[in-house]
Amino acid sequence: MSTTNPPPLQVEEVAKRFRQGGEAVDALAGVSLRVTSGELVAVMGMSGSGKSTLLHVIAGLTRTDSGRVLVEGEELATMSDSRLTGFRRRRIGLVFQSFNLVPSLTAEDNVLLPLYGQGGTADPAKLDTLFHRLGIASRRHHRPDAMSGGEQQRVAIARALITDPALVLADEPTGSLDSVTGQKLCALLRELCDEQKRTIIVVTHEAAVAAWADRVIVMKDGRILTEFAKTDFTDSQALAAMYHEAVTTTKAVAS
Ligand SMILES: Nc1ncnc2c1ncn2[C@@H]1O[C@H](COP(=O)(O)OP(=O)(O)OP(=O)(O)O)[C@@H](O)[C@H]1O
Ligand SMILES: [Mg+2]
Repeated sequence: MSTTNPPPLQVEEVAKRFRQGGEAVDALAGVSLRVTSGELVAVMGMSGSGKSTLLHVIAGLTRTDSGRVLVEGEELATMSDSRLTGFRRRRIGLVFQSFNLVPSLTAEDNVLLPLYGQGGTADPAKLDTLFHRLGIASRRHHRPDAMSGGEQQRVAIARALITDPALVLADEPTGSLDSVTGQKLCALLRELCDEQKRTIIVVTHEAAVAAWADRVIVMKDGRILTEFAKTDFTDSQALAAMYHEAVTTTKAVAS
């Protein structure tokens, strides 16, 4: 019997066109991507290059026009809306730049939100471990307005991890944080991949964030322009230079 599990994520030739007024925008124009278990992947690209659309399509928040998205081997397009919602809640953790915590709830209740449909409780030992692991144990009963930005973002990450998702998708998670707090968050994401085999995709504008990844994908005009492995760059400055050259070059994009 084969023991190989399907990869956490396969994206095959995905396209998505938005129409606004009389204009059509190809937000995704044929993107393919395969992410393996335990990988930390960064997605970079200029504003409007399709990064958030790619994350939304992977999360099943936006339906594709063509191509396939498979999360743990399950094709999102074949699911009904209600099945997709349930699947997303269980298998995909989402983290946004603005944290999206519910202001009236404590940190703990915010973390438990994804389990709401399943009774709203978690194994207490698991919850304890998660809060300690993320360094927010002392903030458990605080509401978001009594926490720093970095603490709020760690609560958002705890919420994304509570269901043991196949994939964690983070859209500019350090965008509202100062650089020191942002780097701490990156170190945490790295640890989650290395020690717990979490699979994380992080969209960022900052080379200092992307440099923590195993792989950096660069998008342009809805396509993957190029990809750097962590062995391709020595530090974030080298990555920033390579990224800058890639996006400003006038050479034809890779098909
Ligand atoms: N719901 C929508 N309706 C119409 N156009 C959209 C919609 N969402 C995205 N777009 C367009 O698709 C393109 C890609 O947008 P997307 O949000 O994916 O870019 P991005 O790379 O995340 O940019 P940023 O770095 O500014 O967040 C842009 O031209 C955007 O205007
Ligand atoms: Mg975006």
